[in-house]
Amino acid sequence: MKKLLTSLSIVFLISSCGSSSSEIKSASSDQMNSRDKIRLKQYKVEGSKIYTAYCANCHQQDGKGLAAVFPPLAGADYLMEDLKRAACIIKNGQADEIVVNGETYNQMMPGNPITNLEIAEVLTYITNEWGNEAGLTSVKDIDKWLQKCE
Ligand code: HEC
Repeated sequence: MKKLLTSLSIVFLISSCGSSSSEIKSASSDQMNSRDKIRLKQYKVEGSKIYTAYCANCHQQDGKGLAAVFPPLAGADYLMEDLKRAACIIKNGQADEIVVNGETYNQMMPGNPITNLEIAEVLTYITNEWGNEAGLTSVKDIDKWLQKCE
């Protein structure tokens, strides 16, 4: 029964991913080649699992954050304006005061013990879910960006 439930939820994940990514009709995704489109789908499926395991406790499953403590990722200006900075935050955490969508946050986010591929997947997920549309962030981008974190 447990096995059946697991495979059912995998089917659900794959099908829900398929329908949401077909809604992405931005100019950037039109220009993406088909290999990148497939990778975008794969990264979102894997990224959503990483999100649930490592991020949803604080930022919440719907990405809306929690009150004045955990900032939102859904529709977050701070996230979407600098993906390199977001990659560094996911890897190393974040402690300074920041302003997200006009709200000031001054809390502590711990770093995450995940691989560069997993960072690419979870960053692709959070920047292409809940109405966010940034397209694919590849593991090559992450390798490059993480060498320059402040
Ligand atoms: C223990 C709670 C916690 C966890 C777990 C956590 N975060 Fe955060 N996150 C925070 C807090 C608190 C801040 C704001 C830090 C500050 O005030 O400087 C933040 C800030 C951020 C920001 C920048 C601000 C914004 O809203 O755009 C991003 C991006 C982010 N987190 C992504 C993630 C991702 C992705 C994960 C999972 C890999 C994650 N966080 C896991 C608490 C958490």
